[in-house]
Amino acid sequence: MDGIKIVGLGKSVPQKILTNDDLAQMVETNDEWIVSRTGIRTRHICETESHQDLCLHAAKVAIADAGIEPGQIGACIVATVSADNVCPAAACLLQRDLGLPEDIPCFDLNAACTGFLEAMHVMECILNASARKFGLVIGCEELSHLVNWEDRSTCILFGDGAGAAVVESSSEYAFTDTVLGCRGDEALLHIPGAGAAEPSVISMEGTAVFRFAVEMIPKCIAQVLEKKQATMEDVDCFVFHQANARIIDHVVHKLHIPPEKCFKNIQEYGNTSAASIPLALAELKELKKIGPGSKVLMVGFGGGMTWGGTMVELA
Ligand code: UT7
Repeated sequence: MDGIKIVGLGKSVPQKILTNDDLAQMVETNDEWIVSRTGIRTRHICETESHQDLCLHAAKVAIADAGIEPGQIGACIVATVSADNVCPAAACLLQRDLGLPEDIPCFDLNAACTGFLEAMHVMECILNASARKFGLVIGCEELSHLVNWEDRSTCILFGDGAGAAVVESSSEYAFTDTVLGCRGDEALLHIPGAGAAEPSVISMEGTAVFRFAVEMIPKCIAQVLEKKQATMEDVDCFVFHQANARIIDHVVHKLHIPPEKCFKNIQEYGNTSAASIPLALAELKELKKIGPGSKVLMVGFGGGMTWGGTMVELA
């Protein structure tokens, strides 16, 4: 089977920045608590932008970065739990707004914070069965619509944003050794659906999710490296889902990862769920911390409960 490389990246965040001091006006909290427990200083929140605007802008930047035309795209997947519509899918509206071909699959995928990695794997499989060789994978969230702004244990954590990747399939690349998993659970992290009696807002057992994450990330890394027949030293950059800086620091310490190899932008964006990994990738490329040939090991975890890891090279 052919593998994929990332050939283009883009990001989009709303203009409005909500600081910890702003949140302290809304709930009983303070900057010191939020920074010391999470590492988060600000998050971007949609005021005038829609989820679709974020998707579209990130996608346009990624397509331009790849230097291809929308007509060359063979599939479009948006990983999200917070699209503007249940139907039509955000990916379907992107088909129209970007001018993607009509004879390609376009759909949204819900695997919460692991969504981008699940979508990358699905894209790899789709492109193996397609005559077209480019795919568009987006992680986008407008979590500000799903946050209970009266719950201080969750409302301080989340932000809005999007990251997009254009990937290319080729027999020159080995099929990616992605690890994906799921353990069905609605107690640890829950967003009720349209038919539910309760309001559709995020509730979370934070401490239990924290424990789940610090156990799962090292396991995913070990499984990816084993499948890939690679070592920690082969990895140029580690990108973990940005849920809490303490989770990332814990893993860096436990696995003796050189801190400069592990990217963090949670301080600026908070937890943007499915957007967090592609947003980090796009920013790493902007900052020239990754470039052609860089091997990036990514790990995601979150609602479902779901988890996933993969190692991808940049073209
Ligand atoms: O993307 C999905 C994955 N999500 C995650 O990975 C989230 C993982 N979990 C976490 O990041 C952390 O568990 C939190 C940041 C959510 C919470 O941190 P914690 O250290 O686990 O705090 P806690 O929930 O155990 O709360 C400790 C105390 C409590 O007070 P008492 O009961 O000890 O008096 C909370 O009521 O902190 C209180 N607290 C707050 N105080 C000030 C909770 N939220 C706040 C707040 N400001 N915003």
